[in-house]
Amino acid sequence: MMTTQHFTTLLRGATRAPRLVAMLIVSLGGPGTAFADTPQKLLAAYAAQAGRAADAQRGQQFFTGLHGREWRCASCHGATPTQAGQHAATGKAIRPLAPAFNPDRFTEAAKAEKWFRRNCNDVVGRECTAAEKADVLAWLITLKERP
Ligand code: HEC
Repeated sequence: MMTTQHFTTLLRGATRAPRLVAMLIVSLGGPGTAFADTPQKLLAAYAAQAGRAADAQRGQQFFTGLHGREWRCASCHGATPTQAGQHAATGKAIRPLAPAFNPDRFTEAAKAEKWFRRNCNDVVGRECTAAEKADVLAWLITLKERP
């Protein structure tokens, strides 16, 4: 016969396993692990850093607009980055930036940061703010279908 004691022990066993799995996932996703990030996590981090919610529409304007220099983000990534872009200087193909069309995108904070830094310097003449990065990423995440 199953006593309350047995049942509690069983229950404890059952609840301990998922907790262990969760702990494993957290430790595997620690700093320095490639592909531990997701676009949603990066977006939340940028928005928190900016101190305000991201605005996808503002992100689209930022991405497709000029910022007093020769290039826009869209010059290389295309105005609809659900498709491949083409480097404005070298002509090299650039895989889609929208994460729904390229699962590698925004899965590594260091990589995203490196390219934001380089590309914002080219397009805006300075690094992008956390708010600008949050807006652009929020817009990219909304792109789910090819127009
Ligand atoms: C002169 C061409 C060029 C311009 C202009 C440009 N990019 Fe890029 N971008 C690249 C290239 C090249 C890569 C790296 C190759 C790749 O990842 O496909 C890249 C990669 C990125 C990534 C990396 C994403 C990831 O996690 O994989 C981000 C973010 C990005 N660009 C954002 C922007 C934003 C925002 C702008 C405008 C401020 C911009 N880019 C303008 C060429 C450009």
